[in-house]
Amino acid sequence: MKGIILAGGKGSRLYPMTKVISKQLLPIYDKPLIYYPLSVLMLAGIRDILIISTPEDTPLYERLFKNGNSLGLNISYAVQKEPRGLADAFIIGESFIESDSVCLILGDNLFYGQDLTKVLNTAKEVKEGAVIFGYPVKNASSFGVVEFDESNKVISIEEKPSNPKSNYAVPGLYFYDNKVVEIVKNIKPSERGEIEITCVNNEYLKMNMLNVVLLGRGMAWLDTGTPTGLLNASQYVETIQSRQGFYISCIEEIAWRRGFITEEQLYTIGKSLKMTEYGQYILSLTDFKKRVIK
Ligand code: G1P
Repeated sequence: MKGIILAGGKGSRLYPMTKVISKQLLPIYDKPLIYYPLSVLMLAGIRDILIISTPEDTPLYERLFKNGNSLGLNISYAVQKEPRGLADAFIIGESFIESDSVCLILGDNLFYGQDLTKVLNTAKEVKEGAVIFGYPVKNASSFGVVEFDESNKVISIEEKPSNPKSNYAVPGLYFYDNKVVEIVKNIKPSERGEIEITCVNNEYLKMNMLNVVLLGRGMAWLDTGTPTGLLNASQYVETIQSRQGFYISCIEEIAWRRGFITEEQLYTIGKSLKMTEYGQYILSLTDFKKRVIK
């Protein structure tokens, strides 16, 4: 399975913070926002990853992750010239996806919770159709929303409805089989001029191939779309990390625990960052920690 992170957009709701920098590079506490969705793909065991961003920002992501090899990943990059919608990712990414299935995650979505890895692995195992998620929120009308009938069967997904039919929003994490590449080509732009991911999901629903997995209240899906959302997400990450001593979305740790890199490689990365708490955390994970760090 391939993974795509969509990190485009103007981030205009966060101006002036995002006037000259991509939203997904803003910090969430101690790391860039994009680390969080990247860690989700890594937890799903996905190692071939395409990052899509604007012409101005793509070089910044390239500087940040290079080809991904230091994390045991293959990261490539593609440019989205205009924000044409989330589903455009499958048009831009067609030659990257080839004949594979694909997981799309939005570069500004932060997930955290006990069952996350299990949820991801279950979704990844579905060979045909699509798997998306439903998550209870108070402001469902800001998102794609799931509509259920009396027997809890999903009957539609609506994009930002003014009268949401449920409080289950669809987070920016989607698993599709290879059919998505053809489906997306026949989708007409919406009123806001975008090829909507919600239309893709409704196509799968029509074919009876849409699985909607409801995430429980123990899972965190945090909003980073506003300054308050960013601050709350930072405070959330800081609270958990300080309390537990475990880091959220430390991509180097995940690469090592998943066996993408060796302990020696982890140690080398930790050493290069040893002036920060982040680097010291990485060093504390290794058996090399008793070595004198120069
Ligand atoms: C997009 C999708 C929406 C989804 C949301 C998740 O909204 O269109 O269906 O619920 O991401 O973050 P947008 O970010 O374009 O407002």
